[in-house]
Amino acid sequence: MSTGAPVELTVYPDDCDAFGHVNDATYLRLFERARWELLERGPGMEAFHSHGSWPAVRKVEAEFVQQVGAGDRLRFEMEVERWGETSFTVCQRARKVGGHGVAAELQVVIVAIGRGGTPVLLPPEVGRFLGVRTSRHTDASQQFTVRDLVVAADVSGDGPPVLFVHGFPLDRTLWRPVARTLTGWRRIVPDLRGFGLSEAPETGYAMAEYADDLVALLDVVGAEQVVVCGLSMGGYVAFELYRRHADRIRALVLANTRAGADSADGRAGRDAMIARIRRDGPAFLADAMLPRLLAPTSLQTEPEVVRRVRAMVSAQRADGLVGALTAMRDRADSTALLPTITIPTLVIAGSDDQLIPATEARAMAEAIPNAHFATIPGAGHLAPIEQAVNTARVIREFLEALL
Ligand code: MLT
Repeated sequence: MSTGAPVELTVYPDDCDAFGHVNDATYLRLFERARWELLERGPGMEAFHSHGSWPAVRKVEAEFVQQVGAGDRLRFEMEVERWGETSFTVCQRARKVGGHGVAAELQVVIVAIGRGGTPVLLPPEVGRFLGVRTSRHTDASQQFTVRDLVVAADVSGDGPPVLFVHGFPLDRTLWRPVARTLTGWRRIVPDLRGFGLSEAPETGYAMAEYADDLVALLDVVGAEQVVVCGLSMGGYVAFELYRRHADRIRALVLANTRAGADSADGRAGRDAMIARIRRDGPAFLADAMLPRLLAPTSLQTEPEVVRRVRAMVSAQRADGLVGALTAMRDRADSTALLPTITIPTLVIAGSDDQLIPATEARAMAEAIPNAHFATIPGAGHLAPIEQAVNTARVIREFLEALL
């Protein structure tokens, strides 16, 4: 939910260093000024004071893309990504007036701190002003019946449609940190059959089934042609979509994925995992997979990312997991497809992906005519959740070039 007209600020010589440039600290101050100027158009800081609280910045993730200097005029947009009970997260983007692309992007977590120094409830009038629904049920997921199956999806925004397909053993919330920020696009973020809030039949799992489910979902939500963003297993589904329904795909984003089929060892590994899930249930998966899904630095320094991924993996059901392992084991080799991909394609790799090395992803990009390639520094296998700001920026730039 975007928060109305952007705030514009001019960069003055006083804001700049000896070379006439804005440094990171000043950039952050400009973002802060834009944030509070926007709030002043509504209930202002007074809303916090009247509740005996003040808004403290708890976390900032910044991506400075373009250099900014004296005389530049910056336009700041702001979007609320999450509205909780005591804290909220906003995404702010700055663009140079008359320039191209995003100059800088910030994700900020703000917490309401009471007189006792501990978090207190957020002022509801601030939420109302920022356009959020202040109910506890902020999960926008909807349920659709497609091919006699209930499929859950977050569908939000207006504009050209983008379909986000998650990997294994995950669900639609993997893409949420990125999808939320791609305003100006209609974002369709489903749970594949067997995952998240979608129905998990006992049988009927194959890449072709996933692909046909998604096309049926696109029919239901009225999306004719989409950009498909698939991560890992979601990339395998994207290849199958391209094989079966190329006319429905406008462009491809292939994140942390590979074109090749499983090796004999890989297939044996899938069978072993299926046997273990059937024998012991899926509880072991989180401990077994987290160290390989996440970059070592994410594991050590990003407890919130670790918590979210662990919760996602732990929430999946045995039937869906076994079905996906079967589908991945039996999937076709898409290597021969690569040179035939004629639509715009972006390949994204995590610099620290232990499951699909960046070198392999680069080779895949080189086999696709005119594909773009981007490495996300510090990301493991789950770039959209480990390095959301950077991943979203790379995808946004690719999407904007399609317009
Ligand atoms: C995924 O992230 O979707 C899986 O790791 C892919 C795979 O196991 O081949």
